[in-house]
Amino acid sequence: MQTKKPIGVFDSGYGGLTILKELQLALPMHDFIYLGDNARAPYGPRSYETVYQYTLEAVDWLFDKGCDLVILACNTASAKALRTIQQKDLASRGSHKRVLGVIRPTTEVLGQYSTSKEVGIVGTKGTVESESYPTEIAKFFPEVKVFQQACPMWVPIIENRVYDTQGAQFFVEQDLNALFAKSGAIDTLLLGCTHYPLLIDTIESLVPKGVKVLTQGSIVAASLVDYLKRHPGLDAGITKQSDCVFYTTDATADFDAHAADFLGYSVHSLPATL
Ligand code: DGL
Repeated sequence: MQTKKPIGVFDSGYGGLTILKELQLALPMHDFIYLGDNARAPYGPRSYETVYQYTLEAVDWLFDKGCDLVILACNTASAKALRTIQQKDLASRGSHKRVLGVIRPTTEVLGQYSTSKEVGIVGTKGTVESESYPTEIAKFFPEVKVFQQACPMWVPIIENRVYDTQGAQFFVEQDLNALFAKSGAIDTLLLGCTHYPLLIDTIESLVPKGVKVLTQGSIVAASLVDYLKRHPGLDAGITKQSDCVFYTTDATADFDAHAADFLGYSVHSLPATL
């Protein structure tokens, strides 16, 4: 039997499934392995040191499972851990190992969506406070003004599956009002947290008329397709049997019940200990 060499996809919990779904559409033959650290989610309010330590444990776990390429399908981990892992840890894991995030591919194209050149970004406290988005966007689109809003209640709302409640509506409205009070010229809103697409209906009903709401999945997927074309050796090493295995650090029954909301199909996850 051929040993699997899948692409690893990691998130603090369920959010990365919104990225995985698009990766599977863009790369239907590639094998994937998804790891959700549900037992320790959310990462958004945690310190740099903690997010870095948890993310590195997850990356090493995925490397041990045969992945040469790991996608951090989590903005918080991309903002707080990716650079240190790339610069400090990868060399000792083997020169062929790669870890990519979701912020860089998003910022490479984000400016193209805005006519007013004012964009809004909603994300976790960790992502917003890292200033990763304004810093990266300034490299590719220096003319674009960035307005950010941390939305600390949104991930708990999603992880607890209470999207369609008055409580969810209250917190989403409160944070969007705070963001759009910063500028009336924002014409593009990026959901800078991979969990947030689950709230897209509520968000779209509350943003000012004419504002485009962007999710990251298809952007990250297009970027990965391009990256694999530019790295044919890496791509050749990934097994391609349309396989996907799901792991969670928390209860598998909960994961399976919830994952279908994100993926549109049911899964049977396995337990992981980091
Ligand atoms: N889904 C993650 C992100 O994109 C964060 C969720 C969390 O706070 O753990 O930032």
